Parts: sequence; C-alpha cells; structure tokens
Amino acid sequence: MQIAVVTGASSGLGREFVYQISRTETLDEIWVIARRKNRLQELSAKIKTVHVRPIALDLTSQKSMTIYRELLKQENPDVRIFVNAAGFGKMGNYAEISRQDCDSMIDLDCRAAVDMTVLTLPYMREGARILEICSTAAFQPLSALSVYAASKAFLLHYTRALRWELSPRGIHTTAVCPYWIKDTEFISTAKKTRNSTAVRHFPLASHVHSVVKLALMDSRLNLAVSTPSPMSFVHRIFAKFIPHSAMIGIWELLRRI
Ligand SMILES: NC(=O)c1ccc[n+]([C@@H]2O[C@H](COP(=O)([O-])OP(=O)(O)OC[C@H]3O[C@@H](n4cnc5c(N)ncnc54)[C@H](OP(=O)(O)O)[C@@H]3O)[C@@H](O)[C@H]2O)c1
Repeated sequence: MQIAVVTGASSGLGREFVYQISRTETLDEIWVIARRKNRLQELSAKIKTVHVRPIALDLTSQKSMTIYRELLKQENPDVRIFVNAAGFGKMGNYAEISRQDCDSMIDLDCRAAVDMTVLTLPYMREGARILEICSTAAFQPLSALSVYAASKAFLLHYTRALRWELSPRGIHTTAVCPYWIKDTEFISTAKKTRNSTAVRHFPLASHVHSVVKLALMDSRLNLAVSTPSPMSFVHRIFAKFIPHSAMIGIWELLRRI
C-alpha cells in the first residue's frame, strides 16, 4: 500500500499539502494527523480521488507515538511522502509567553518532528520524499519569537544533516522554510499571549496554495532547502551575509512598525 503521511493536516499548510498531493500523486491512501478529529474527517470526506485516513493524535504525547508506531507495524505501508507540518509558535518576550507554551513549542516543533520522522523512516524506500516544515525564522535568532525561531533552527539543522544520512538510501529530504503566510491559523495562535502586539504587521505575507506548490516542486527536485516565496528567498540570502546582530536590529524595527 503506497501512502503519504501528513501531520498538521487539520488546517493551513498541512491541509493544503493533502489537497495538492491528492491531485498530483498516485497513492492508495493519505494518512492525515492532527488533534482535531472532526477537521480531519471533513477533509477526508472532501477528497474523492484517494482514501484519506483521519488519525487524531496529539503529537506532544508519548502515547501518540506508540499508537503511530503500532499502526505502521500493523499496516506495513510504503510511505512515498512524509510531510511534517504540525507546529506552532508564540509571540512575546520571555515573560509574556507561558512556560507551558514554551515547552509545548519545543516538544512539537523539535521532539515530535524527530520522533515522527524516525518512526516513519523504516517504511520509506528509494525515491520517497520527506518535507520538514521549518520557517524563515530558522535563518536567524528573532526576539519576541525566541523559542519558536530556535526550534525551527533545530529542525532546519536536523533536516539538513538527515539528508546526508539518507542519501545512500535515495530518500529526498527537504527543509521547507516559508516566510509569513496569511491564510493559516498560525498567526492567530501565535498572538494568543500576554502581548498580542509583539509583532504588529506581516507585510508581503504569502498564501498557502503557492507555498505548498513550490515546496512540492522543490522536493521533487530534491533541494536541501526550499524557500517557497520571494520573501523567504531574500531572507535566506540576507541572513547568510549580514551578521545576526544586525539582522536582529532590523527585525526589532520591523516588528514594531
Ligand atoms: N503560517 C506561517 O506564517 C508560517 C510561516 C513559516 C512556517 N510555518 C510553519 O508551518 C507549519 C504549519 O503551520 P500553519 O501555518 O499551517 O499553521 P496552522 O494552520 O496553525 O496549522 C498547524 C497544524 O498543526 C497541528 N497541531 C498543532 N499542535 C498539534 C499537536 N500537539 N499535535 C498534533 N498536531 C498539532 C494543528 O492541528 P490541531 O490543532 O488540530 O492539532 C494544525 O493542523 C508549522 O510548523 C509552522 O511553524 C508557518
């Protein structure tokens, strides 16, 4: 059974990945993972071209990892595409974000991303593709997004190193680094802290459709890092050549405008 697995599929990027994969790939099933079961069921009902299997899991819990591992063992699928899009961020300084939110960010954006990838890998073979959804936040430290940006830097570095480990197996591994995206729940979730105006504006934000289309194309081309919008590409170049201290200064100005 050839399948795709998409985490974070109940909204935003993950859901759009499911739509586009269902249109462009020949698969027997797409496994969709997130906490909100009703959203996953709605998605499954909407897609007619391939069977979409809703799997409601909270990826910050170890029990969910055991459930996923057992499901893989039972079904023994051939995972052609694994998209890890589950993730969230919170805006505010060290005193404005709860410790629980900080821990959950690290848990979901780092630990769960690694665990889900490692659990899926035994079921992937040559030509399979992994897309780890990082962020342009991975390119530099960001005040008022310090834990989130650090968690995405972790995922970017992990993904780039994993790519080398997996290259003898012929598995394509791409770190997808989008800039702000308007039409997802990310920004509204991120603003729910003690300082909802820590970042005031999101200029030139992109849209999920084009981000996912470009990310899938970059993964087909086996790029190490996908910057799926002009802004994410520019950010990547700037962060490479301008010292981090100057980039943080620019960010401090931009987020207050
Ligand atoms: N939007 C942006 O501006 C932007 C920019 C760069 C990178 N990103 C990254 O893109 C990825 C997708 O974000 P998005 O913009 O699509 O945001 P989103 O609409 O909020 O989607 C986040 C997804 O993660 C799932 N999720 C959250 N906590 C979870 C948990 N504990 N267990 C399982 N699933 C969980 C959510 O589903 P449930 O709530 O149903 O569990 C949802 O499906 C994230 O990794 C984010 O960091 C976003």
